[in-house]
Amino acid sequence: MDQSMRVLIAEDEIDHQDYLAKVVTSWNYDVERADNGEDALRLLNEKSIDIVLSDLMMPKMDGFELLRQLKAQGNLPPTILMTAFGSLEKALHTIHELDGFWYLEKPIDLTALELLIKRAGAQRRLAVENEELRRQLSFRGVLGNLIGQSTAMQEIFALIRQVAPTSAAVLITGESGTGKELVARALHANSRRSAGPFVAINCAALPETLIESEIFGHEKGSFTGAFERRVGAMEAAQHGTLFLDELGEMPLPMQAKLLRVLEDLRFRRLGGKQEMQADVRIVAATNRDPAKSIKEGKLREDLYYRLNVFQIHLPPLRERKDDIPHIVEAMIGTMNQKHGTRVQSASSALSDALMALAWEGNVRELRNVVERAVIVAGEGVLEPRHAAFGLKRAAVPVKADPEADGGGVGVDIGMTIDEAERLLIEATLQHTGNNKTRAASILGISTKTLHVKLRQYRLSEGSGDETADEN
Ligand SMILES: Nc1ncnc2c1ncn2[C@@H]1O[C@H](COP(=O)(O)OP(=O)(O)OP(=O)(O)O)[C@@H](O)[C@H]1O
Ligand SMILES: [Mg+2]
Repeated sequence: MDQSMRVLIAEDEIDHQDYLAKVVTSWNYDVERADNGEDALRLLNEKSIDIVLSDLMMPKMDGFELLRQLKAQGNLPPTILMTAFGSLEKALHTIHELDGFWYLEKPIDLTALELLIKRAGAQRRLAVENEELRRQLSFRGVLGNLIGQSTAMQEIFALIRQVAPTSAAVLITGESGTGKELVARALHANSRRSAGPFVAINCAALPETLIESEIFGHEKGSFTGAFERRVGAMEAAQHGTLFLDELGEMPLPMQAKLLRVLEDLRFRRLGGKQEMQADVRIVAATNRDPAKSIKEGKLREDLYYRLNVFQIHLPPLRERKDDIPHIVEAMIGTMNQKHGTRVQSASSALSDALMALAWEGNVRELRNVVERAVIVAGEGVLEPRHAAFGLKRAAVPVKADPEADGGGVGVDIGMTIDEAERLLIEATLQHTGNNKTRAASILGISTKTLHVKLRQYRLSEGSGDETADEN
């Protein structure tokens, strides 16, 4: 814990509260204050409090009841009870019964208080570290950056561990945002090639004219614009893994060339004479159904069979909802590190709400919702209100554009989320004059996800701008 410790002072005598706050602040602690037990409980749930300094006798809820409730919630930081003359017995009973930390009789001896707060801080630090360790250990369901305790994901982890050390080609399928790239990286990390490079190429993002030189490289002057010799991905990935992302978007002539390379493991740079040995492990991914792509003539069947030595299919998140709380928990940790926040966990109300959604954007969408919620909350327990935007977006259409008056869509009870979402997408597209990039940005999804949804809802793809998705 790099941040300074935060002490909550619960004391109904305001003068005494002021005095203690001043003293404790001067010892370099952050201080929060409460005038009664109820306020204290509320603060403890909203903020991360490291140490509690509480009066025993307080209005609304006394120190004993406060500790009792905190203990029941499993959120009892080290607590120092302050007792007035004559209530020692109750203080001792409270400490004993409820694992309070210590007690001090009023008037408070400042030397003793400083010492106790220091000790309480040390205990708190240990507890937090233990919690962090426990959290990591409980993730048996972790492989690289992949999290999943569902049976489906456990089977995938086992398959990855089994296939990774071989040099067999692997085809990863699954909807957008299900973690295909993470699987590709896990395959590399668990292979004998892990010390070598992992080179990813996005077949959808490259114009047809460039993809061949991207993969095979070219010699200087091999085509107009080839001013320099260029090393291609195949060469860059020597002794490592070449990840061909969005294989379904690879132009057919390129597919034929790739197949030839896979067959005899030799290739040349464009315009080059020298044949090179391809010592690469190929992992490919597609978010389309390969059988369908083959039928539509977009994927060569022979290439498919060559790459499909092993297939790893990632089910959509909605089919493995019991992974959601674990993914959320882990992402809270990641996001705390990224944003310097102190969020502790997600409330069960939020977990339930998240598990009820369809997650068309799969784990990526969930990650974005958690990230936003962590930033909004900053600390304490994540509640549905912190993720309201993400939840609402999936459940109830909002006005298409805040600047536009009117332009909303009506949703009625009884409508499914899919129907409501479809209505919202239609209305937003109408509003933007079928500009999909703007519509996607208003909706808070990637253009790619929008296209997926359009296809799913069979809304006309029509004309409109197309922009490559960056995420
Ligand atoms: N099982 C998982 N555990 C933890 N995080 C995950 C998991 N799956 C996906 N993610 C998160 O979702 C993000 C998207 O995953 P990834 O890029 O691998 O998806 P993808 O299947 O390649 O999607 P696309 O088809 O759109 O490229 C990752 O960056 C990661 O944050
Ligand atoms: Mg991907």
